[in-house]
Amino acid sequence: MVLYDELGGQLGIRKVVESFYPKVKKDPLLAPLFTNDIDSIMEKQEMFLSQFFGGPDLYTSVFGHPRMRARHMPFTITRDHADAWLSCMSRALEETVESEELRHAVIERLKVSAYFFVNS
Ligand code: HEM
Repeated sequence: MVLYDELGGQLGIRKVVESFYPKVKKDPLLAPLFTNDIDSIMEKQEMFLSQFFGGPDLYTSVFGHPRMRARHMPFTITRDHADAWLSCMSRALEETVESEELRHAVIERLKVSAYFFVNS
């Protein structure tokens, strides 16, 4: 089974995203980067994670090729930012995903991208 299905499809991913962004907004390192409308950021993230975890290509169908590293270039992202992002995500997963094994698989996938987006 793909991670998308294991997470409970679109609804499961939405729950993770809804738990994640309030943590980001409270994080002293990350909050200053998120000045744009958080609802639209959350919607884009839900669409992206859907396809990232093997579900429907919702993000690409609306916004084109993800080019996620390039899309993060306007922001200064250090290793500490990546650690903070992953910490918020780990806590969001603890609140929304029962299986420890599944949480681990999800965070391992996101880790690769998070450190790849480090640009400073
Ligand atoms: C490494 C730490 C990361 C930081 C500091 C970070 C920060 C940001 C910021 C500041 C934005 C722009 C918000 C805006 O529109 O104003 C953004 C957008 C986004 N991020 Fe990240 N991000 C990180 C990692 C990730 C990871 C690991 C993923 C997914 C694998 C991800 C997925 C996205 C998506 C889908 C968007 C929306 C892109 C769009 O505008 O179309 N980010 N991120």
